[in-house]
Amino acid sequence: MSAPKKLFIKTYGCQMNVYDSERMAETLGEQGYVETKSADDADMILLNTCHIREKAAEKVYSELGRFKGLKAEKPDLKIGVAGCVAQAEGEEIMRRQPLVDLVVGPQSYHRLPEMEAKARTGDKVLDTDFPEEDKFERLKRRPKAKRGPAAFLTVQEGCDKFCAFCVVPYTRGAEVSRPVDRILSEARDLVERGVREITLLGQNVNAYHGAGTDGSDWTLAQLIWELDKIDGLQRIRFTTSHPNDMQDDLIEAHGTCSKLMPYLHLPVQSGSDKILKRMNRSHTAESYLRVIERIRAARPDILLSGDFIVGFPEETEEDFQATMDLVKEVRYGTAYSFKYSTRPGTPAAERAQVDPAAADDRLQRLQALLTQQQREIQDSMVGREVGVLFEKKGRFPGQMVGKSDYLHAVHVSDCTREIGDLARVRIVSSGPNSLAGELID
Ligand code: 5AD
Ligand code: SF4
Repeated sequence: MSAPKKLFIKTYGCQMNVYDSERMAETLGEQGYVETKSADDADMILLNTCHIREKAAEKVYSELGRFKGLKAEKPDLKIGVAGCVAQAEGEEIMRRQPLVDLVVGPQSYHRLPEMEAKARTGDKVLDTDFPEEDKFERLKRRPKAKRGPAAFLTVQEGCDKFCAFCVVPYTRGAEVSRPVDRILSEARDLVERGVREITLLGQNVNAYHGAGTDGSDWTLAQLIWELDKIDGLQRIRFTTSHPNDMQDDLIEAHGTCSKLMPYLHLPVQSGSDKILKRMNRSHTAESYLRVIERIRAARPDILLSGDFIVGFPEETEEDFQATMDLVKEVRYGTAYSFKYSTRPGTPAAERAQVDPAAADDRLQRLQALLTQQQREIQDSMVGREVGVLFEKKGRFPGQMVGKSDYLHAVHVSDCTREIGDLARVRIVSSGPNSLAGELID
């Protein structure tokens, strides 16, 4: 038997890319590949890329440049680019970086084995189609490989919202929901392999409307209730949601489904109605706040997370202050904030840009406020009892690290529990990036 070929995958960007990388590794596993953690001994290198902001896309080209020496030493090494940069700039990548043998867009991952075989013959291969067939069903699983306790599961992909700054509707395509039965069988398979927590993924996950087991379209809440029945699955999360798709049954599930964790990522982007309108967000600051109010009525302790963009075209200091006011009103447990980045092909790219120095200054002020809120909410966990799912050993003997219900990292010393155990923990202190706790017997 010949030695297995080695695959090195580097993943950039969102959690869906993490999920996709796992699936690509599994499907290439069928071709005799095993994963390696080092690019130096790889027979194939795959960069799974992100196009959401300019910096993210540029990283790919600088990373590719670094493989020049490696490719010179190892002519059989194949280099591939996957993900959203592949989708958006496929042919340009081939032109700009001749080292690249293979370019595959997110909707074509099930075709990787054929593409890899073709690349092995010395051809350059590019596939950025949006094929009709069900990618997820055709991506082969590595049978029964053991998994860590927390996993991602894509249930919905693509977006029809067309926010004026965003490339996702172009790179991931139109909104598609996977059928419930396929999701259930994938979830059961994950649980059999040791998974205890599943995060349902979608660019617009709460717009989920897949075919249910009774033939009608189901909501995300209906899907969650079905997953709730799986023995051994202990926690359910979902991300990312749009404020306009927060339906009543989903809000209610946050109050009644014990496996659904008290954490919600609900991007708002801006607190100014003028900017929200120009962003084509189709909600106002007020309607967003009303949604938050309803969620908190159903689940008062829910930890909220958000995304923000500062320096969007035509944003004034007054608009920015409206964002700061909204943040103060909501109080986020965690948040992601970005300076607007021009993405070619999106509507906002054509508009007058805000002075970069003003945008930098706003980003700093917003991040200072968000960090302060994050800190306060994390510190307020001290003295509370929370569930912790242990995911790995800590740095010190006897120490274990896991995630709380609210997604905070928690360290427990003298821990008698194993990886994959869900335990009750009392939080005793709050550090810069994590909490410390002790087991409650
Ligand atoms: N510039 C800056 N941030 C962006 N995002 C999406 N597109 C852009 C852009 N062009 C942010 C949004 C989104 C998150 C994933 O990335 O806040 O919610
Ligand atoms: Fe992009 Fe999200 Fe807007 Fe869709 S809803 S266009 S993914 S920011």
